[in-house]
Amino acid sequence: MFSKASITLSLLLPLLSKTQAAFFYPDVQTSLLEHLIVDTYGAYWSGFSFAITPCSHYVSGNQTLGRETAAQWLRVAFHDFVTARVEEGTGGMDASLGFETLREEDSGTAFNDSLTFFRPFVNSKVSMADLIAISVSISVGNCGGPQIAARGGRIDATEAGQFGVPAPETDLETTLGYFANAGFNRVDSIALTACGHTLGSVHHGGFPTVVGPEAVSATNTAGGIHFDSTVDLFDPSVVNEYLDGTGNQGGPLVTSFNASSRSDLRLYESDSNATMVTLANQGAGFLNTCKGLLQRMVEVVPKNVKLSDVISPLQVKPVNATLDFDDSGNLVFKGYIRILSSTSSAPSVLTLTTSTSPKPLVLIPESAPGSSVFGVTHFFPFSTPIKPASSFQSFTINGKSLAPHTFPVEASAFVIPSLSSVKSGASTTVDFTVATLSSKGVFKRSALKPSVSVSAPVPQMGTLGPAILGFKDVAVTNVGEKMGYLLWRGSVDVGVLATGNVTVEVISGGVAVDTLLLG
Ligand code: HEM
Ligand SMILES: *[C@@H]1O[C@H](CO)[C@@H](O)[C@H](O)[C@H]1NC(C)=O
Ligand SMILES: *[C@@H]1O[C@H](CO)[C@@H](O)[C@H](O)[C@H]1NC(C)=O
Ligand SMILES: *[C@@H]1O[C@H](CO)[C@@H](O)[C@H](O)[C@H]1NC(C)=O
Ligand SMILES: *[C@@H]1O[C@H](CO)[C@@H](O)[C@H](O)[C@H]1NC(C)=O
Ligand SMILES: *[C@@H]1O[C@H](CO)[C@@H](O)[C@H](O)[C@H]1NC(C)=O
Ligand SMILES: *[C@@H]1O[C@H](CO)[C@@H](O)[C@H](O)[C@H]1NC(C)=O
Repeated sequence: MFSKASITLSLLLPLLSKTQAAFFYPDVQTSLLEHLIVDTYGAYWSGFSFAITPCSHYVSGNQTLGRETAAQWLRVAFHDFVTARVEEGTGGMDASLGFETLREEDSGTAFNDSLTFFRPFVNSKVSMADLIAISVSISVGNCGGPQIAARGGRIDATEAGQFGVPAPETDLETTLGYFANAGFNRVDSIALTACGHTLGSVHHGGFPTVVGPEAVSATNTAGGIHFDSTVDLFDPSVVNEYLDGTGNQGGPLVTSFNASSRSDLRLYESDSNATMVTLANQGAGFLNTCKGLLQRMVEVVPKNVKLSDVISPLQVKPVNATLDFDDSGNLVFKGYIRILSSTSSAPSVLTLTTSTSPKPLVLIPESAPGSSVFGVTHFFPFSTPIKPASSFQSFTINGKSLAPHTFPVEASAFVIPSLSSVKSGASTTVDFTVATLSSKGVFKRSALKPSVSVSAPVPQMGTLGPAILGFKDVAVTNVGEKMGYLLWRGSVDVGVLATGNVTVEVISGGVAVDTLLLG
């Protein structure tokens, strides 16, 4: 019934259309989020965790204010999450908080401080809501707490959401009602609050009805009183100090001079302290309880959101791997291989082979390693000619005591890095050139120009969270041919200054065959 050719085609097409973005592994979003989580310190660090290093650090202002960025990130996530209505499948982690910072229930500097810091990291693949969620994994995981599994895929809200954040003066019944809206019962709510209130402080500046002016001093100008005696350590102290009456006795929301501001006391003793006693008896197991609850918290999302798989640190990761043309017009495949090892003993040598050149290319690491709670990272630069491009389907990394890792490649089209750039003046202009394989592959077959999409994060009213401005099917003109590829040039004037990376994508059959990020 079918010719041999058409059977082959129908078998191939589903496989091809699953190939996302040739040079990000396992896909663009996962690769970018994994970078934020794993590339913490040293070589090629992401610039994310420096804000919370050390954990007592305040990145948004003077250290004498007595504020703490790691604690702020955790509080931001709580406020975004807790207005969810899980029954209706609305709200939760959607960055709607950005539109809500002028509400009484969201008072304090934490929200705009954090969104200002996260803002440059937002792009068409990384939402503000994902950054808020992942900041919880990063702050808790780097400040003595458990490693909270991270996922991507959250979608940013385009307007404010429901009200419903408990405040110090909120009565117990209303508070439990707010938590219940978000899917958390009494026991969960007590434990989650203790997990949150192991970091940070209540400040006179922002909460004068909780903390009096006597807390203000020359080295604590915002007048913060810590929840526990280990303000920058994610540990069970807050629980023990509350029950034992030691240290900070559970903090200002237990001990406030103003009885109506003692929201933590009302919550903690609402079951006669039973949950707090259980948490204390868990000892270090408290961290595991928090791990589960905080992961649940950041995974409360609107019903239209499908979260990605858990993002695990990658042992072997191609970084910035791209096809490009060198000065002599040859096609080269270049980038870095990042090796993550639990000890400092990474392989001293790797080899790279491609489906077009089986002769192994020997890779030597750069001298400066990176580090993180997951281990040490070593970066191995590579650059290898590709000929013919039509046979470039995969590359393989080998190393001593390393299982061979083979990565598939989709070389039928790519955005040419050396011929693509972003100009930022009064507005952002994106100039790009795309290559499509002329001898083989999808583009010749359909004899069509490539479909190119450009997306830019841009400022929007009422929130520091950027909106994504998308340009689909951007006009391109043929500007020649190189190494078996047709070259297509195009340009987009975004109209305003982009807030972060612009993405250029070649689309085939509705999926991105290649994605390039431009800064
Ligand atoms: C009844 C529930 C809660 C109430 C009434 C409440 C209230 C407050 C208040 C008034 C502050 C002081 C903010 C400032 O002065 O800057 C604060 C700080 C904080 N809250 Fe809560 N909170 C509650 C539950 C939670 C939960 C569930 C979490 C996280 C899981 C959390 C995380 C934090 C953190 C980390 C801080 C320290 C922020 C900083 O130092 O800047 N809170 N909370
Ligand atoms: C921080 O504030 C103190 C006063 O609290 C001031 O002396 C100092 O100059 C400030 N530092 C910076 C970097 O603004
Ligand atoms: C105590 O807190 C309540 C509720 O926030 C507030 O109305 C009242 O003014 C506060 N009292 C003092 C003395 O700050
Ligand atoms: C709960 O524990 C706190 C701190 O030990 C104590 O002050 C309070 O009286 C207890 N409440 C109940 C109902 O047991
Ligand atoms: C990857 O590219 C980005 C943007 O140009 C750069 O900041 C980063 O350092 C590069 N990483 C590596 C490992 O080269
Ligand atoms: C936070 O930033 C937004 C957007 O710029 C602004 O509209 C809002 O007033 C700010 N909120 C606070 C509390 O300053
Ligand atoms: C993306 O933006 C970041 C922060 O603005 C910048 O450091 C980075 O170089 C940009 N990435 C690329 C690929 O240009």
